Amino acid sequence: MEVVIVPDAKAGGELIAEAMAALVRRKPDALLGVATGSTPLPVYEALAAKVRAGEVDASRARVCQLDEYVGLPAGHPESYRAVVLREVVEPLGLSEASFMGPDGSAEDIVAACEAYDRALAAAGGVDLQLLGIGTDGHIGFNEPCSSLASRTRIKTLTEQTRIDNARFFDDDMDQVPHHVITQGIGTILDARHLVLLATGEGKAEAVAQTVEGPLSALVPASALQLHRHATVVVDEAAASKLKLADYFRHTYANKPAWQGL
Ligand code: PGA
Repeated sequence: MEVVIVPDAKAGGELIAEAMAALVRRKPDALLGVATGSTPLPVYEALAAKVRAGEVDASRARVCQLDEYVGLPAGHPESYRAVVLREVVEPLGLSEASFMGPDGSAEDIVAACEAYDRALAAAGGVDLQLLGIGTDGHIGFNEPCSSLASRTRIKTLTEQTRIDNARFFDDDMDQVPHHVITQGIGTILDARHLVLLATGEGKAEAVAQTVEGPLSALVPASALQLHRHATVVVDEAAASKLKLADYFRHTYANKPAWQGL
């Protein structure tokens, strides 16, 4: 995989936003897979700024969700549907019709998961999937020991992930759902380009294991090693445990101009 070390989160956001903009210029109705959490916000801010500045026309772009909490009341501001509408769909000036996600309030969750996988395929597949990474190495909500071939399904969150996410629920653990729907690792690997963004020292260990560790279900993000076009964008803090950091810097600095992310 390609590893790009950037000075800070803003630079990472700008780099990935430009890759998304280039994709949308090439393919105006591209399907962009978006992630929630704090890390991707600089990407969405930079992309929305490009749209406002007229650098890219994203009016035909489509957006799809990576995961969703199960059981939050409809319209809950921290449901990932609400977050993606607020952080991505509205700032890009897209309509709700251009957006798809799994139904976390469905009566039949198993059917809802299968329906989402079918809908992604029917939409032509994800062109670029943006990913964050959990401190435990999860992508989407594929917690450690997820099947590397898994499809969209219901998962139980680890206690660590619930603790990490409590900040979105007034630091009240009782409000943090236990269950989620997540694209499976196999589903994620179907996307044409995977771009993982990690910032801050708290992610350094997970990043090192993802990039340099063995392929292991214990570190779900290591499945990116199986993908033919995976890019890992990290700031200096998140890169701090990479043994090959200097090599990655050298490679990126000497990259041919025609080769985008
Ligand atoms: P974060 O979440 O960006 O808020 O750190 C990442 C993740 O859990 O995938």
